[in-house]
Amino acid sequence: MVILKTAEEIERIKEASVIVATVLQKLQREIRPAVTTRDLDKYAEELAISEGAVPLFKGYHGYPSALCISVNEEVIHGLPSSRKIARGDIVSLDFGVLYNGFCGDAAITVAVGDVSPQIRRLLDVTQNALDAAIATAKVGCRLGDISAAVQGCAEKAGFSVVRDFVGHGIGRKMHEDPAVPNFGKRGSGIPLREGMVLAIEPMVNEGLSEVKVLSDGWTVVTADGRLSAHFEHTVAITKDGPEILSRL
Ligand code: MF3
Ligand code: CO
Repeated sequence: MVILKTAEEIERIKEASVIVATVLQKLQREIRPAVTTRDLDKYAEELAISEGAVPLFKGYHGYPSALCISVNEEVIHGLPSSRKIARGDIVSLDFGVLYNGFCGDAAITVAVGDVSPQIRRLLDVTQNALDAAIATAKVGCRLGDISAAVQGCAEKAGFSVVRDFVGHGIGRKMHEDPAVPNFGKRGSGIPLREGMVLAIEPMVNEGLSEVKVLSDGWTVVTADGRLSAHFEHTVAITKDGPEILSRL
């Protein structure tokens, strides 16, 4: 069941989402060679708490950390550890908070130092896929339009979309209906309505779409070991069109 939100509720999801965006921006500035993924996790947690927010992921189905940090062939749910960031890595940061009873969720992928044009293109295409998907998040469109926008951008560029993990509705809970796949047909699925709030999150693989979960029970990696990028925004469908809530 999709829970539609009032304008007041959307404002509160926005407050949570702006905290997430602020934390991601600060983390991005700290990403440099030799920083450990655990350092970034600690910093994210401190920043959230200093804003009066609660990290959303820690304890969720037993997830042990505040932040998901997925490096290179890691797609999502990378566990913070003593791993050091290295020059040439691509690093996905996925973060969420609970603030004042509502959730916000967002992710970015950043390159550390210089990367090849192909890697740059993977990041740009994934960001563009998110932007294109958000542009369809409006009354009069359907859920499948969001999915098709992501899939179209990724596949036109010669990349693939992950099928085993999807975006989601968000509100008082992190994961609400509907599931928001990164693949699908234009014109299919439920009609988008004013008051829906969606976490749209393209996961785009350089190679094949297949993924597997490592023996730590969390880290999702590409099956072929090639790179993957992930961007996510919390987006409200308003009568005036899509509103990106997790943006500064
Ligand atoms: N952005 C992710 C999601 O939407 C983060 C969840 S990680 C978890 O599912 F650890 F909390 F599961
Ligand atoms: Co999410």
